[in-house]
Amino acid sequence: MTTTAQPYQFRNAPTQLQPLQEMLDPITLDDLTRLGITDGQHAMDVGAGAGSIARRLCELVGRTGKVIAVDLDTTLLAPTAVLDVYQRDLRTDPLPTEAGTLDVVTARCVLEHLPNRQRLLEQMLAALRPGGHLVLGEIVYARTIVPHAPTAGDTELIVVVVHAILDVLAERGADLRWGEKTPAILLDAGLEQVRTRWVAQSWTGGSPGCRLYADNARQLREQLLKADLTPGDLDRFGELMANPTVVVRGYEFACTTARKPR
Ligand SMILES: C[S@@+](CC[C@H](N)C(=O)[O-])C[C@H]1O[C@@H](n2cnc3c(N)ncnc32)[C@H](O)[C@@H]1O
Repeated sequence: MTTTAQPYQFRNAPTQLQPLQEMLDPITLDDLTRLGITDGQHAMDVGAGAGSIARRLCELVGRTGKVIAVDLDTTLLAPTAVLDVYQRDLRTDPLPTEAGTLDVVTARCVLEHLPNRQRLLEQMLAALRPGGHLVLGEIVYARTIVPHAPTAGDTELIVVVVHAILDVLAERGADLRWGEKTPAILLDAGLEQVRTRWVAQSWTGGSPGCRLYADNARQLREQLLKADLTPGDLDRFGELMANPTVVVRGYEFACTTARKPR
């Protein structure tokens, strides 16, 4: 199928997905635990990446359950007796599931990147059975704060680079306000128990969050150089993200759960 929409900005490198999982899994897994998922249930993770959420869903639904993992790039996803893996470009392809069949649908750091996010969310809601749960997580735009860095110049550089990364994502079609809009969209769609946590934490050089910043800057290097940053700036940013004396307020995430009415 031909795709005309902007391609996804990142490669699914373990250097990106590993720190993302280390940072966000405690929040998402806590959400999943609270839903009361039981043996034999059916779940789907949309944009499953390196698969930590899909694997946790497999544990929760047990041997008699079924989990579907869908992604454009499935190289980091291994199917099992419980886990089915589907390669799909969700800008154009439908979800590989029947309407009204799933107990849980998750998508973390996916919808904000996709131009058809609203339509895809509608498909995800349609896939849920009455009483089924939705678990979402999105990066949202937030001001960068640097409580500690070696010099004032380093502080300024970190702020400039992180905002340039966010600008590149937005220019390439990401909606960094999407996570703020989802609670209203879900309520309008009739969902119940809509609950959002906005999570931002301090990240220290070398921590998963700073490794994620460093990887994002590496992957978007070409675009960042076009945004008036120099190779020296980006090299220094990489050093700072590994420096344990650096403290920065990390990306903010909006994590929303909701239930389809019974
Ligand atoms: C930032 S990663 C998040 C991965 C995972 N959900 C997590 O939180 O650990 C975004 C994921 O969306 C997937 N993705 C991006 N564009 C896609 C598309 N058009 N169709 C399907 N998946 C896509 C990427 O391949 C990647 O795995």
